[in-house]
Amino acid sequence: MPGLASWGPEPYDNGSTPTSTEGSPMQTATWKGRRAALREAVADGIILLPGNDEAPRNYADNPYPFRQDSHFLYYVGTDHPGMAALLLPEGREILFGAPEHPDDVVWFGPHPTLGDFAAQAGMADHRPLADLPGILAEAARQGVTVHYLPPYREANRRKLADWLGVRAAEVAPGASAALTAAVVAQREVKTDAEVAEMEYAIGCSALMYRTAMQVARAGLQESRIMGMIAGVALMEGLSFSFPPIVTVHGEVLHNHGYGNLLKDGDLLLIDSGVESPGHYCSDITRTLPVGGVFTRKQRDVYEVVLEAQRAAIEAVAPGATNLQVHLAAARATASGLKDLGLMQGDVDEAVAAGAHALFFPHGIGHMIGLDVHDMEDLGDAVGYDPGVARSGQFGLGFLRLAKTLRPGFAVTIEPGVYFIPALMERWRAAGTCRDFIRYDRLEGFAGFGGIRIEDDVLVTEDGRRVLGTPIPKTPDDIEVLMSAED
Ligand code: GLY
Ligand code: MN
Ligand code: MN
Repeated sequence: MPGLASWGPEPYDNGSTPTSTEGSPMQTATWKGRRAALREAVADGIILLPGNDEAPRNYADNPYPFRQDSHFLYYVGTDHPGMAALLLPEGREILFGAPEHPDDVVWFGPHPTLGDFAAQAGMADHRPLADLPGILAEAARQGVTVHYLPPYREANRRKLADWLGVRAAEVAPGASAALTAAVVAQREVKTDAEVAEMEYAIGCSALMYRTAMQVARAGLQESRIMGMIAGVALMEGLSFSFPPIVTVHGEVLHNHGYGNLLKDGDLLLIDSGVESPGHYCSDITRTLPVGGVFTRKQRDVYEVVLEAQRAAIEAVAPGATNLQVHLAAARATASGLKDLGLMQGDVDEAVAAGAHALFFPHGIGHMIGLDVHDMEDLGDAVGYDPGVARSGQFGLGFLRLAKTLRPGFAVTIEPGVYFIPALMERWRAAGTCRDFIRYDRLEGFAGFGGIRIEDDVLVTEDGRRVLGTPIPKTPDDIEVLMSAED
């Protein structure tokens, strides 16, 4: 096992540099340009963009780590609580926030003022937040539409209700479909600068996964591995983009405990990501054999997942739908499991019946950007083309992204195979898809766990590009790294 020094703050160079240093002229132009395009897409009324506030953890002065609203980051760029922006007709824009208090310097030292934030954002006007409800009330009196996005935090729902003078229950139904559609159309296509941010985050993920592969061994608690990858992120000055999964029970899909001991023969599934300085996300999964060597059975199933990922990545192309990408992974999974004797019958019929979902119950992936599930707060307007509804079938119904892919989309490709004892038992007892599942062969898999492999992929003009620093993912490459001496 390497010593502390070997997983210290080695600089990594993935050829990309984050671009979100607050206040650079390039950024001011970027945010102004994005707002101008939004204003053009939603030509009438007022656009209201609320930022996030501090969220108290146990009392007001001890908040959770602050995370700015991603739409606010995208259009305004200010990574500071307690703000809002109004985009008025004829290009007028106002940034709202707390006015300076003479004592602020005591608690915060030298810091940007509201005027500085407005200048960085490229907004000519700034006002105290307390002025906002009056302006909105005047707009209402004049019959001007106020466009806003549906809030995902209860505190923002109540804040919007206060500002707009409506009941909290009326806020979500009053959200603007036109603004939602315009924001999705803009944010779903990533620029080179945004891609560079994501590749920066993946550079840190690469360091985290190499560390995990070098230190994972029997006898350690999952929390040790969690702490080591968290340490790498912290040493790089970055934070997680979601609570990581670090578990020897990968078959429990949302497993956020870190209390199990690693044993030789276990599979350790790590699904984690970080945010770049500009808050663009990575989202990577690798599955490792504790002890450093896959058993024959683990390697066989691993190869099925790897082939499903390869087939799905190959299916990513402009004009293809992500439903087709998902189904490519589903077919590869069913075909591979048939070769292993766990499924049977015609592969296309098995996939149409949803039989593969016993082993691969989730979707192939989601958009990624400023949110790890990019814009998921806006619902299926993000993942489904107009007029296309989610399937009601178990498995396919969990597909977050089905829509037609276009150049600039960034998506995750994350197939998996899991042996979920309760699900296998439920399906077996009910005879679900019995023509396609070899239930008689599943008994030996009750303690197998789960395997997932996840990478972040950009849709390009002529196909796709797997983003960022390559992270070992073939069984051989993983075994080589896990056996490497310090
Ligand atoms: N880590 C969340 C996901 O993979 O979707
Ligand atoms: Mn993930
Ligand atoms: Mn993901």
